[in-house]
Amino acid sequence: MTIRHSPIAPHRCVRLLAILLLAAGLLPAEVRAQRSDRDAWQRVPDVMAALAIGTGSRVADVGAGGGYFTAHLARQVGADGRVLAVEIGERELTQLRRLAEDESLENIDVIRGEVDDPRLPEQSLNAVLVVDAYHEMTEHEAMMAGIYGALEPGGRLVIMDLAPPDASASRDRQIESHRIGIDLVAREVEVAGFEVLDRDPEFARSGSGRGQWMLVARRPVRPGPPP
Ligand SMILES: C[S@@+](CC[C@H](N)C(=O)[O-])C[C@H]1O[C@@H](n2cnc3c(N)ncnc32)[C@H](O)[C@@H]1O
Repeated sequence: MTIRHSPIAPHRCVRLLAILLLAAGLLPAEVRAQRSDRDAWQRVPDVMAALAIGTGSRVADVGAGGGYFTAHLARQVGADGRVLAVEIGERELTQLRRLAEDESLENIDVIRGEVDDPRLPEQSLNAVLVVDAYHEMTEHEAMMAGIYGALEPGGRLVIMDLAPPDASASRDRQIESHRIGIDLVAREVEVAGFEVLDRDPEFARSGSGRGQWMLVARRPVRPGPPP
């Protein structure tokens, strides 16, 4: 019997794997470096305070991306809490599953959402976070209805997004710039039935100088007319 050797030498395999992981945005060292850069400006403790969550809370990160906030939320709510990380992107879903596994964050559930449905369980959550994702939600009315339904009465919704160059431009023009204004989103959130509690038009500024706003809302405590 002839034993054939692999045509690819082991060191080449390792290099190839690293290149593939980098291309997929999955190399842990790379991810860790991006995370610590962002920690320098993202004001994570203030985000946690706005969500009003602590040990044992149940929270969703909708449009979770690679899981920057998912990981912070998982540590904030601890082993008795739960983080539901919702994504529609294949690459991001893979990154989120890998994050939970690599960092042994067993309180994370990764959920494959739909463009018009976060697929969250009804009235099950204390809070929902949406960071730099609202402007990407083509079906924002349906997404807000799904989030409203998933929150318990009094549950918080915190939305953060990038300020547009011209906040008086039409919605379509703002979205074209991959940004959206806080006043426009506040109106849409109120139409969805939420009460706006607070707004900070200049919440944070990224290392590259992009301005990020924060809107804090809640599902009303007393049942009102359906949104
Ligand atoms: C710019 S990333 C932000 C990621 C993350 N929140 C963060 O702060 O790092 C926006 C993400 O929103 C996701 N997204 C867009 N529409 C969505 C929807 N309807 N439901 C869930 N995720 C959505 C995209 O796939 C993308 O990964």
